[in-house]
Amino acid sequence: MSREASSAPRTSFGARMSEHAIAARAAAHPIDPQFLQRWSPRAFTGEAIDEATLLTFLEAARWAPSGFNAQPWRFIYARAGTPAWEPLLGTLSEFNRGWAHRASALVLVLSARQWLPPGKTEPQVNLTHAFDAGAAWALLALQASLSGWAAHGVGGFDRDKARATYAIPAGFELHAVVAIGRRGDKSLLSQVLQARETPSPRRPLAELAAEGRFDFFD
Ligand SMILES: Cc1cc2nc3c(=O)[nH]c(=O)nc-3n(C[C@H](O)[C@H](O)[C@H](O)COP(=O)(O)O)c2cc1C
Repeated sequence: MSREASSAPRTSFGARMSEHAIAARAAAHPIDPQFLQRWSPRAFTGEAIDEATLLTFLEAARWAPSGFNAQPWRFIYARAGTPAWEPLLGTLSEFNRGWAHRASALVLVLSARQWLPPGKTEPQVNLTHAFDAGAAWALLALQASLSGWAAHGVGGFDRDKARATYAIPAGFELHAVVAIGRRGDKSLLSQVLQARETPSPRRPLAELAAEGRFDFFD
């Protein structure tokens, strides 16, 4: 169903989403528009981000739920133009560096595989640390979107290099780097990436959720 441009949902950066994006981003069940308006651009303006703003995104992540409230996530951040920037940018794959170099900040998301329960002296394996870190990154991305910025998860980075760069112990798993910036014009990108610079669709919920059975799934 097409909608009038005037009623099209506003994206977090203030522009109206294209009709194509709206069609790709329609919810089958009623949800808050913020979930549809968040997406992961690769064209960033390179605008500087102040540390206080970046910390609001990490603050949102801090309030994620976690198993035992162990809060296993850790974040190493680097803002463009600071001494911290090049070492983290340098861990990204060549493809991802090609667009993420115009981001305003990068955040490496890692989490502790073990935790120390209250009153215990021996650390215990935390089976949900990765799940919890995923929840934290999602809140970070939502807060960035709500604040008029965009966050783009990057799994294509050299984990060994990042581990060595920051001397991260084996007890921590490195999950992703998040590129954060203001969305820029897609002409900043190569022709190939320009074609992909649009909010993506999702599989139907019926393929993803079933009541009381698994054999339903592929
Ligand atoms: C953990 C994770 C790793 C990702 N890795 C990359 C990546 O290496 N390069 C890239 O361009 N996009 C990457 N993405 C972005 C996804 O392709 C994107 O989130 C997905 O297509 C859904 O689109 P949306 O975020 O715009 O809704 C990654 C996203 C996540 C959550």
